[in-house]
Amino acid sequence: MLEAGKLVRDLQIMRDEGYLSDALLRYAVRTIATSDKRFSWVGVYLLNPETQELWLHNYMGSPTEHAKIPVGTGVCGRAVAEKSNLNIPDVSKESNYLACSPDVQSELVVLIRAGDDIFGQIDLDSEDAAAFNGDDELLLQGVADKLAEQLAAERR
Ligand code: SME
Repeated sequence: MLEAGKLVRDLQIMRDEGYLSDALLRYAVRTIATSDKRFSWVGVYLLNPETQELWLHNYMGSPTEHAKIPVGTGVCGRAVAEKSNLNIPDVSKESNYLACSPDVQSELVVLIRAGDDIFGQIDLDSEDAAAFNGDDELLLQGVADKLAEQLAAERR
């Protein structure tokens, strides 16, 4: 079970201590990935606004060939194109899906954003079918929002 409140507090402490987004993004992925056996792969993609691609920043899980994903492509790229989180209970039913591992059954993408300004996303895979629920999305959105605060601060 992810202790999202604690993670958000930890991230704020890191910010107060002067850590930058690189460290926060790595700490968040590590904490989320080790918090729950349902999560087989957890990573953060950041949006490159020039190329309109998602670039893999860091992850825990099996290596993936999807280090760069164009906006609109795959579940990850579709979430950005639609400016919406995506909870995919059965990835085998997705026509626009980029497989990372054949064992993955469900996927959740939570956007890191400030309003319409999208910085990237937290991407989670599970080997369980329909692994993710609305509570997961809510908790992860809290984490994503804290990460967005730091990314926005660094763009100023
Ligand atoms: N499944 C994602 C690609 C990312 S990998 O799962 C790590 C997608 O369809 O966009």
